Amino acid sequence: MSANEFLDNAWKESGPKVISGFSRPVYHNMMGLLRGYKYDKLKYGGMIRHTEAGMLTTWASEVPEGGVVVEIGCYGGLSTSYLLTGLKKRNGKIYAIDPFNSDLGKQEDLSDKCVPLEDKPTKELVAQRLEANGFDGMFELCEGFSQEVAAAWDPAVKIDFLWIDGNHEQAYQDFKDFEKHLNPGARVAVHDAHPRYGYEAVVRDVRKIFADGSWSGLEHVKSIISGIRN
Ligand SMILES: C[S@@+](CC[C@H](N)C(=O)[O-])C[C@H]1O[C@@H](n2cnc3c(N)ncnc32)[C@H](O)[C@@H]1O
Repeated sequence: MSANEFLDNAWKESGPKVISGFSRPVYHNMMGLLRGYKYDKLKYGGMIRHTEAGMLTTWASEVPEGGVVVEIGCYGGLSTSYLLTGLKKRNGKIYAIDPFNSDLGKQEDLSDKCVPLEDKPTKELVAQRLEANGFDGMFELCEGFSQEVAAAWDPAVKIDFLWIDGNHEQAYQDFKDFEKHLNPGARVAVHDAHPRYGYEAVVRDVRKIFADGSWSGLEHVKSIISGIRN
């Protein structure tokens, strides 16, 4: 099946906007039940569903030993904590990018208006949370915008899993910015990539991402589209 056919199939659900009403393969649901309830969504202000959380842990646990995850859009550290839970099994490291509460004027100019800028979680708060969750030494919080972090990226650091959940108007740009740093066989996953449950711009960009190059293991989990770069 081509990537385009896969996406058409993943998105053909056209019923009412009921979160439980689409994309429920048994394995994804099982991972959601087993692994997707560990952290308090309300406390973290997180935006991922339990099934998505469970699969983030599962995918992160599948990177090679000492693997590297890059997260674009860390916010309060919810998805970061699920990724780190899986990554711990591989002694890996995560680079989690977000402007946090820095330079709010610039964030206002560049924002996609997805999250309120008042009371944004601070880098210090997220660091404390991740340490309290047992991930000391496994994370680097990169305070800034993905495009700036990508421009200064050390090319010696290769990425095994790229998780894109930052500015919903630049998912393709985020992919292109980090593509050159992906290891062969790296996973890429994009959040909010469903026409009814995500953002139109992300849906458009996900078509472009998965039309670009060769992919295997395409998966659709709620609003996430993910694949492995060959
Ligand atoms: C939807 S939230 C992320 C939620 C988080 N992944 C979770 O599930 O808990 C998107 C975050 O990306 C941040 N953001 C927006 N543009 C960004 C960029 N260019 N680079 C990095 N982060 C960005 C926003 O400020 C916000 O904190």
